[in-house]
Amino acid sequence: MTVATLDGQTQLVGILGWPVAHSLSPTMHNAAFAYAGLNWRYVPLPVQPGHNLDAALKGLVALGFRGANITVPYKVDAIPLLDSITEAVTIVGAVNTIRIDHNTGKIEGMNTDMTGFLADLAQNRVSMGKNTRALILGAGGAARAIAAGLVRSGAHVTIVNRTVTKAEAIVGFIRSSWANPDINAVSMEDLSMVAWDANLIVNATPVGMWPDTETSPWPERVPFPPGAVVYDSIYRPLKTKLMRQAEAAGLRAVGGLGMLVYQGASAYEVWTGKKAPVDVMKLVCQQALMEDSRPGPF
Ligand code: ATR
Repeated sequence: MTVATLDGQTQLVGILGWPVAHSLSPTMHNAAFAYAGLNWRYVPLPVQPGHNLDAALKGLVALGFRGANITVPYKVDAIPLLDSITEAVTIVGAVNTIRIDHNTGKIEGMNTDMTGFLADLAQNRVSMGKNTRALILGAGGAARAIAAGLVRSGAHVTIVNRTVTKAEAIVGFIRSSWANPDINAVSMEDLSMVAWDANLIVNATPVGMWPDTETSPWPERVPFPPGAVVYDSIYRPLKTKLMRQAEAAGLRAVGGLGMLVYQGASAYEVWTGKKAPVDVMKLVCQQALMEDSRPGPF
């Protein structure tokens, strides 16, 4: 692997959000650029809440950036500041990647979280479609992208959340985008009533994320539906308590690293126009997660 020189030709992308100090994305993308021999760099772009998001985006255009990832807390607020958005942004209601046209300076917003999740399910040979009965735990931004992706694939989706009104809000949003979406919302207290016939369970809450690795969003009192696949969108730790619980009950469990990698791979391909070295991206993330014990969100 030859690392291209950082010089006057270097093309820049980065991650815009707050906080971004512990993001894995710079490691993942810079390894991919180095592997491919591209003279590109991926840099942190911390923008404090309350400071000017609009100015930050215009600054990226002025400085000739080729694009960026947009992360918490700007995935929704950035949308009206963009020149155009893809259908995925409309159906998820959030943007996580922008591309800046080199000639016109126009900013296009996209959502690769949804496609990243679907790509990782496919990679893990988890079937999705009209025979899929999915439970999504949680009703934040991650749940929104996952719900939109599963509904688009034709699955029946139930969003289970501690605060049922938040789950209902996602259902309302998705119903406003599709003709007849197969989706409903229940409260966490009613989990046992909807869990029994699920064949895909997706954790989209932060419960179980480092450092609270002994917590799980799945209550001990509720049996897992036999034969279901459990997908935990958390990747730190690589194996969560939920995944351990599921495996102990004889279920297959998949961690969320692939979702991170595939959303990153889609963004890489949008920016560079080249195929992303997905295996390299995954490997460097795994290495970083195994070596790194720093606190903080990734
Ligand atoms: P993101 O947008 O990053 O996906 P978020 O907005 O912080 O994450 O959403 C987290 C989701 O996890 C929320 O639905 C939250 O439940 P509430 O809507 O009731 O707040 C859920 N969540 C967080 N901590 C939880 C906990 N300890 N038990 C159950 N659900 C939890």
